[in-house]
Amino acid sequence: MLKTTAAMDRLGTESAFMVLARANQLAQSGRHVINLGIGQPDFPTPPHIVEAGIKALRDGHHGYTPANGIVPLREAVAADLHKRHGVEVDPDHVVVVPGGKPTMFFAMLMFGEPGAEIMYPNPGFPIYESMINFTGAKAVPIALKEDKDFSFSADEVLAQITPNTRLIIINSPANPTGGVTPREEIDMFVAGLEAFPHVAILSDEIYSQMLYDGREHVSLLQYPSIRDRLIMLDGWSKTYAMTGWRMGYAVWPEQLVDHVTRLAVNDHSCVNAATQHAGIAALTGPEEAVLDMLAQFDRRRSIIVDGLNQIDGITCRDAAGAFYAFPNITGTGMSSRDFQDRLLDEKAVATVAGTSFGHLGEGYVRFSYANSEANILEALERVQNFVTAYP
Ligand SMILES: Cc1ncc(COP(=O)(O)O)c(C=O)c1O
Repeated sequence: MLKTTAAMDRLGTESAFMVLARANQLAQSGRHVINLGIGQPDFPTPPHIVEAGIKALRDGHHGYTPANGIVPLREAVAADLHKRHGVEVDPDHVVVVPGGKPTMFFAMLMFGEPGAEIMYPNPGFPIYESMINFTGAKAVPIALKEDKDFSFSADEVLAQITPNTRLIIINSPANPTGGVTPREEIDMFVAGLEAFPHVAILSDEIYSQMLYDGREHVSLLQYPSIRDRLIMLDGWSKTYAMTGWRMGYAVWPEQLVDHVTRLAVNDHSCVNAATQHAGIAALTGPEEAVLDMLAQFDRRRSIIVDGLNQIDGITCRDAAGAFYAFPNITGTGMSSRDFQDRLLDEKAVATVAGTSFGHLGEGYVRFSYANSEANILEALERVQNFVTAYP
């Protein structure tokens, strides 16, 4: 028997990938599976971005690049952040990594250890809690509640800070709830942080461009008082339908840039060069494809939220961001996990139980609306039949 570290026993996972595997198994057995489980756009990467990647390969970009990313890419990121958030960012503070996840991984490795406390949204992206546990730090949940439209409460977060708190993770627009934290709440949060200069902030803004109902994105980069301890994570995966290219970035504070670059060198050396060139095309090229994708997400959002609200036992808030609906299913009498498993096995509709995003997700199920309108309508009918048939 091999002996691995105790940390390995504490490492969790992302159940959406398990649901995906089960959904694929069912599809292979001939069932028409509708996948509302996985969190990735169902659109292809826009063609001008694909072409830029191919051209980079043809042009001979086959070698290592600097660990933090090529200069024109980091400059394009800084220009994009200026355009979208009105902020100045030094391209040397931008570190490009293989996806959104490595930034979390590195932040957690930097701040997590036994005795330290890290706060994270619950329900939230499962990797936060998993990685905090891995490091041996104490995972302190920030409860996101339905009656606040799953926005965090600044007062509640600030009240939980202790001398051991090292890092606070926030995520707006949020996975799995689609919740968007309003500017006033973020103002209060940042103002309160001034009393706690020992605390770093990881703001996961990967859904920063996926907002509806005219809602604006509030980037934590817009608050000068915390810029020296803010890690702002964003990337290409969701906005440009590039999940499989594996590229993301964060803006790091000056005092952590060297740390994260060393972690990158130890871990993966660099993001592959052709993908970085595709990333420049994404940031500097035409925006129509992205706008069209967002318009389609917005339409599907209305269809799924309205449809879910018409099913007895289910109520669903009108989430303003990302591409997830997070309905309350307690009225059906099922647990989240039962709902997920039985809906997949009996009706071939893949969703993810709220509890996959933390214990406070009990009573909810995540429906990703990254699927066609026709499939969403068909899925809603199947959910209706499923719930009606439940004793
Ligand atoms: C909140 C959040 N952050 C980060 C990520 C990771 O993105 P990537 O696929 O770029 O690693 C996801 C992916 O689902 C997410 O939902």
